Amino acid sequence: MNKKYRVAVIGVSLEGIGNRHIASVIANRDTEAAMICEINEEWAKNRSAHYGVPYCTDYHALLDRDDIDMAIVCVPDHLHAEVVCDFLAAGKHVLCEKPLALSKEDCQRMLDAEKKSSAKLMVGQICRKTPAFVKAKQIVDEGVIGEISYIESEYAHNYSVMPIHWRNSYEVPRHPFTGGACHSVDLLRWFCGNPTEVVAYGNHKLLGPEYGPCDDTMCALMRFPNDVVGRVFVSIGCMSPGTGIRTLIYGTKGTIVMANNDTHITLYLGELGFEKSDKILGGGQLYKNGIRIPVALGSHNTAAELADFIDILKNGKAVDITAREGADTVAVCVAAIESSQTGKAVQIEYCK
Ligand SMILES: NC(=O)c1ccc[n+]([C@@H]2O[C@H](COP(=O)([O-])OP(=O)(O)OC[C@H]3O[C@@H](n4cnc5c(N)ncnc54)[C@H](O)[C@@H]3O)[C@@H](O)[C@H]2O)c1
Repeated sequence: MNKKYRVAVIGVSLEGIGNRHIASVIANRDTEAAMICEINEEWAKNRSAHYGVPYCTDYHALLDRDDIDMAIVCVPDHLHAEVVCDFLAAGKHVLCEKPLALSKEDCQRMLDAEKKSSAKLMVGQICRKTPAFVKAKQIVDEGVIGEISYIESEYAHNYSVMPIHWRNSYEVPRHPFTGGACHSVDLLRWFCGNPTEVVAYGNHKLLGPEYGPCDDTMCALMRFPNDVVGRVFVSIGCMSPGTGIRTLIYGTKGTIVMANNDTHITLYLGELGFEKSDKILGGGQLYKNGIRIPVALGSHNTAAELADFIDILKNGKAVDITAREGADTVAVCVAAIESSQTGKAVQIEYCK
């Protein structure tokens, strides 16, 4: 008989990402939603009634239970390490939301806990499951745009439309470069490997002090292997409809332009040549029309993330988005924040 993995989702607020995860667990034929664990009992009851899934308020009660195989950890970023390490020590598989943690120390704890555990840990760097980025990765890996020369990605949002909560804490500051731009950093690393050096600048002009002590705008330039230059921009107070995670990759033969909230990616190829554009540029030159490649929308593709993790567990495959990947992304974010605070370029040091 087909084994069903019994999954507990830890941290399910009324509108948070835990809801997407619980819906994915319910929809997946290899998983069963065994428990909603939410520390706020009112919300726990509400979500339990909504999904028809039992609830508890203390995840420790799940650690010894033989009928829980896996936890999806959706608690605030600074609490990931504690919850993940406890489930790993109890031999339960874990899918942990991004960022793996806010500090390299917490990442190291999780890497060490995973080594000691019989269970597997995957980090939810969801952009690696977003159809637009998956398609771009395939195009780049096939050599269509040649060698990458420059890559950039941005996380542009306006957090002032969100309630004030842990993201705005003064006690445990959650820098948006790690909390939000980890998506963009992870994309750059996925395409170009681990950067060696970063220099960054930030400011705090958009959001009021009630939104926390961290900069709300930051831009980081990075040096990647093979002389690739990368740039990541984050804004959590931008006055725009939100361009999502807009990403551009410039190669020696072509360019890809895409975003996680667009239904197409655009591929420009040097071999197609240029055309004159009298109307727009008064005689300037443009690349011939880009090739518009349709992609499914799926900026938060938790269904694919879960399906891939279950496939890994069922078939003894290696985890694709490993804790190491999550930790390396955090190491880049931490170094970028250090650079913005010291005004100096920082050599990036990765976890052991
Ligand atoms: N992949 C993505 O694109 C994406 C999007 C949003 C959020 N996230 C990440 O998901 C996580 C949750 O974000 P969110 O927006 O859903 O936050 P949220 O505040 O809406 O939900 C987190 C919930 O965890 C609960 N909680 C805190 N400590 C707990 C504990 N010990 N046990 C059980 N519940 C506990 C809180 O009460 C809260 O309801 C964060 O790490 C965030 O960065 C990822």
